[in-house]
Amino acid sequence: MRIDIFTLFPEMFVGPFAASIIKRAQERGLVSIHIHNIRDWATDKHQITDDTPYGGGGGMVMKPEPIFAAVEAVRGDDTCPVILLTPQGRGFTQAGAQELAAHPRLALICGRYEGVDERVREHLVTDELSIGDYVLSGGEPAAIVVVDAVVRLLPGALGYERSAVEDSHATGLLEGPHYTRPAEFRGWKVPEILLSGHHARIAAWRRQQALLRTLQRRPDLLARAPLTRQERVWLREQGYTGPFADEEGTERGEEPARQPADSPKPLAL
Ligand code: ADE
Repeated sequence: MRIDIFTLFPEMFVGPFAASIIKRAQERGLVSIHIHNIRDWATDKHQITDDTPYGGGGGMVMKPEPIFAAVEAVRGDDTCPVILLTPQGRGFTQAGAQELAAHPRLALICGRYEGVDERVREHLVTDELSIGDYVLSGGEPAAIVVVDAVVRLLPGALGYERSAVEDSHATGLLEGPHYTRPAEFRGWKVPEILLSGHHARIAAWRRQQALLRTLQRRPDLLARAPLTRQERVWLREQGYTGPFADEEGTERGEEPARQPADSPKPLAL
């Protein structure tokens, strides 16, 4: 994969891309990341990239010409998603990261100031992404977030030690708790089952913990997560009252999820 980033602050990317998984992915040739300074495509003497807004008002607006020139020069005849990072974009999610990871090439434009000239949005950008409902000083940290989430999904990026398929959100659920040695620390013990060596029971316990954690922290996710009928019943017993996406779509011939039982029983391990 090739990623081109267009920014007025190239130096902001140096540290984050020179460490950990993104660094390793570049070294392994899984991704090549190219940072471009939009200012290099400004044609006037002072290399101006922003101007005051038509119609008045505060703040500055990023001019269209250097952004168009930069993206068109770098991209050539290639077509690829051209993504503007902006708080007005659609929310970036794990599903969005997976979708982007399937492209051989991406272009990210980092907005600054009050925003970019609307013609950039209308005629250059194919998608606008926000990493959350808060306002950053610019799109650069958001671009770093997007690159990180995408690059770790590229086959081979995580190495053998771990697979992205178990990540929080990859299953549609949050992950349950993790433990490492020692088995007892300050009197706090690791759950017995994890020391048992019963792989199937450990997998079932982890699944149950993931369901429980999601119920406690992000019950909204349960509405969209792929769940078995047994899991839906169990979640109802644990007090979940929200919808399930496929409640009507249970496998043919199956009963719909039951109402909570009087005495909740644990999900079979
Ligand atoms: N630029 C400023 N704030 C942003 C956000 N929340 N997401 C993406 N780009 C941004």
